[in-house]
Amino acid sequence: MAQISIQQLLVTEPKSQDVEVNGWVKTFRSNRFIALNDGSTINNIQCVVDFENFDEKTIKAINTGAALNIKGKLIESQGKGQDVEIVVEEIYVHGAADPESYPIQPKKHSLEFLREKAHLRVRTNTFSAIMRLRSALAFAVHDYFQRNGFYYFHAPIITGSDAEGAGEMFRVTTLDEKNPPLTEEGRVNYKEDFFGKETNLTVSGQLEAEAYAMGLGKVYTFGPTFRAENSNTSRHLAEFWMIEPEMAFYDLSMNMDLAEDFIKSVLRYVLEHCKDDLKFLEKRLLDEEKTKPQAERSEMALIEKLRFVVDNNFKRVTYTEAIDILRNSKPNKKKKFEYPIDEWGADLQSEHERFLVEKHFKCPVILFDYPAKIKAFYMRLNEDGKTVRAMDVLFPGIGEIVGGSQREERLEVLQQKMADLGIEEEELWWYLELRKFGTAVHSGFGLGFERLVLFVTGMGNIRDVIPFPRTPQNASF
Ligand code: 4AD
Ligand code: MG
Repeated sequence: MAQISIQQLLVTEPKSQDVEVNGWVKTFRSNRFIALNDGSTINNIQCVVDFENFDEKTIKAINTGAALNIKGKLIESQGKGQDVEIVVEEIYVHGAADPESYPIQPKKHSLEFLREKAHLRVRTNTFSAIMRLRSALAFAVHDYFQRNGFYYFHAPIITGSDAEGAGEMFRVTTLDEKNPPLTEEGRVNYKEDFFGKETNLTVSGQLEAEAYAMGLGKVYTFGPTFRAENSNTSRHLAEFWMIEPEMAFYDLSMNMDLAEDFIKSVLRYVLEHCKDDLKFLEKRLLDEEKTKPQAERSEMALIEKLRFVVDNNFKRVTYTEAIDILRNSKPNKKKKFEYPIDEWGADLQSEHERFLVEKHFKCPVILFDYPAKIKAFYMRLNEDGKTVRAMDVLFPGIGEIVGGSQREERLEVLQQKMADLGIEEEELWWYLELRKFGTAVHSGFGLGFERLVLFVTGMGNIRDVIPFPRTPQNASF
């Protein structure tokens, strides 16, 4: 008998045929109804047990969390709430789960509690739905780029350069921390380290992706990314997954078109393929919202919000226009931003970004042409000499979901920029060579995968959309 997933079983026509399933017990009601789930779907299959046919030991082992193998007949359900059910003939207990100590009981657990049980939380409905959506989104990402002529490029994880120039790197070293070799000046001598120089975990695969775009045309990365930024927020992780397309012969406006089309495409994919999980998470969110005051509740339900993004154009606004709007706005009852925008040139805080998206434009926004001073060294300087061709995509409830730019392709301008910022040419000699040999207009962006999963699932904390989150003071799993 072929093993079949519960997802497949639930759409099988019931003809009293023999079936076999494996799964974990969600609930066991009245010593008669087992709700069994194998992770293939949010829905459980009901398995009906006549307890008189089984020994007491087996019946006693059927507790929430126990792993079972069940053989029986698939019939049309006699009860309400499901189309099919299994009349159980044989039960094999793979492994019991002692109800006294198994932490995941059939009741609502707080997300904080479940973070402490990151190894077991995927057995809850909420986390299994999130992780199935995460998987589907990852598939949709590859599908989109593969259909559109991009090559999947594997950026190195260990790097010798700080791609963002923000100094937020995790050092990779094999030196003896208690007794490292020292230079004559008394500093740690990384020349004696494994690679003969200082190395770090990557903060972005962009610079290497640029090298490959200048040979393959269109590439994308999709891999783990590391930032040692000490921001303990609901939007930052120390280890996250980033998607970075990089395209030769693309200017900033083509880059914006791509970002918008790409995001809409992956959202369309999950709207079509993950209906049950989205419905479950939407309901979960609605229940949660009921506990909030009316004013704080979201205007749209989850699926409606995803459809809205798919069906509407993102609003494109320059940094300068945004600053004007912010200066002339009264964001709340106090009529003030926590960080007032006084001058052109200031970096936007998340309260400003969220105001623009959630209150002012009420749709996703692409901000572009930022002041050069607040953006990375590699961005293309505009003719005005003070702004760069940068773009950030801002999303409701999330803030920045994408950061990207047209890259500086002119050798002298790039050298000048690096000199101004004190970046040694020796550090990035290979990056400069890309401008010496066959340089061309090119662009790209980075999308934080977990921020996308946050948006799609409606969850409020980034720690709940990655299996084992790494944040400051937390890597216990
Ligand atoms: O804006 P960022 O820093 O841009 C870059 O790294 C560029 N090199 C990308 C490129 O042009 N190829 O990061 C890009 C995105 C952000 O918009 C955000 O979604 C996400 O990566 N991100 C984080 N996500 C989770 N935790 C963090 N600590 C993140 N830092 C950035
Ligand atoms: Mg950014």
